[in-house]
Amino acid sequence: MSKEVSEYDTNRSEEMINFGIGRPSSNLLPLDLLQQASEAFFRSAEPQDISYGRREGDERFTESLAAFLEENYGQRIQPDSLFLSGGISQALDFICTQLSRPGDNIIVEEPCYFLAYQIFKDHGLNIISVPMDQDGMDVDALEAILSRVKPTLVYTIPSYQNPTGRSMSAERRKRLIALSQAHGFLIVADEVYQLLSYHGTPPPAFGTMLDSDTVLSVGSFSKILAPGLRLGWIQTSNKLVRQLSKAGLVNSGGSINQFTSMIVNQALVSGLAQQHLVKLYTVYRERVATMDAALREHLSDHVSWVKPDGGYFFWLKLIKDVDMTALLERASALGVGFHSGALFSNSGGMQNHIRLSFVYYEQESISTGIKRLKSAFDF
Ligand SMILES: Cc1ncc(COP(=O)(O)O)c(C=O)c1O
Repeated sequence: MSKEVSEYDTNRSEEMINFGIGRPSSNLLPLDLLQQASEAFFRSAEPQDISYGRREGDERFTESLAAFLEENYGQRIQPDSLFLSGGISQALDFICTQLSRPGDNIIVEEPCYFLAYQIFKDHGLNIISVPMDQDGMDVDALEAILSRVKPTLVYTIPSYQNPTGRSMSAERRKRLIALSQAHGFLIVADEVYQLLSYHGTPPPAFGTMLDSDTVLSVGSFSKILAPGLRLGWIQTSNKLVRQLSKAGLVNSGGSINQFTSMIVNQALVSGLAQQHLVKLYTVYRERVATMDAALREHLSDHVSWVKPDGGYFFWLKLIKDVDMTALLERASALGVGFHSGALFSNSGGMQNHIRLSFVYYEQESISTGIKRLKSAFDF
């Protein structure tokens, strides 16, 4: 049994500071914003707005989403490159259903977002890991794998990766696309953290690199508005949008999340969603700085790390060997939780790493939690 404190564990005391939690804190979930957007929707709604929606997503929504992405990516985004999803988890599941067959190979980064493994396994995919370095996926290592393995999909989290916080360089993005064309695989770029940049700008989103017909960029409102909306998008070539819109799921049910998309449309056109994003930058920038400073003050003898420029996570490397099970137990007894690196490996690796999320707690709790973690190490 894992000793890690689950983020859904409601029996823990309020005092527990669980850096495993990778979702927005309650005070950053914008109820007011959604109330305003809902009121605006109901003021002008037509009955048809709550009927089955267009399979790719209501045109008003894909247009306002394209404008929002255009503002943030700084590049022209075509509304017809967008296909509405029920968030990235649903999009990944849907892409696997539509574009792969059980037994196909999927290549993923090592380490990788641990819950994606389960989605790929649900589809009977054979998961093969490719190493990463500070510039993201090691594309040379990928090329070596491609000489002996034919993948259907290559899954990457190119910007502010979960769990490492690293971003794939622009040059590697281009090489990955060239490899996808040469070897006939599809790139599934999970761009969930692309818009959460606190210092500088990340390399261009895969959503702006669609010409090859081999790229699917998946995005979500989970981290920039609220996870409970279950709303996101797949951005891809017209050819693949057409293919996805023939799926039985949308043929039968229409738009995957019509009603919510009509509310979020109002948040987009009114500028409220953009204002919220700017607020998140300010708050998260402070939280990154606080965690970095607390780590430097208390844990630099035990771990090394690179301060992330965006996203949600610090990826710590243990300087000396530590019994991770014992560390997790001591940490839990002292009131602090985290995810061990092994969770993010498909091959029993990453034992000497720890992932901390900096987004869920306010600055004071972040400092307190890191002090507790120091005590767990010093025990
Ligand atoms: C890399 C990555 N992809 C997808 C998700 C889940 O996205 P969604 O809520 O849109 O399903 C997460 C959430 O933590 C994530 O970190």
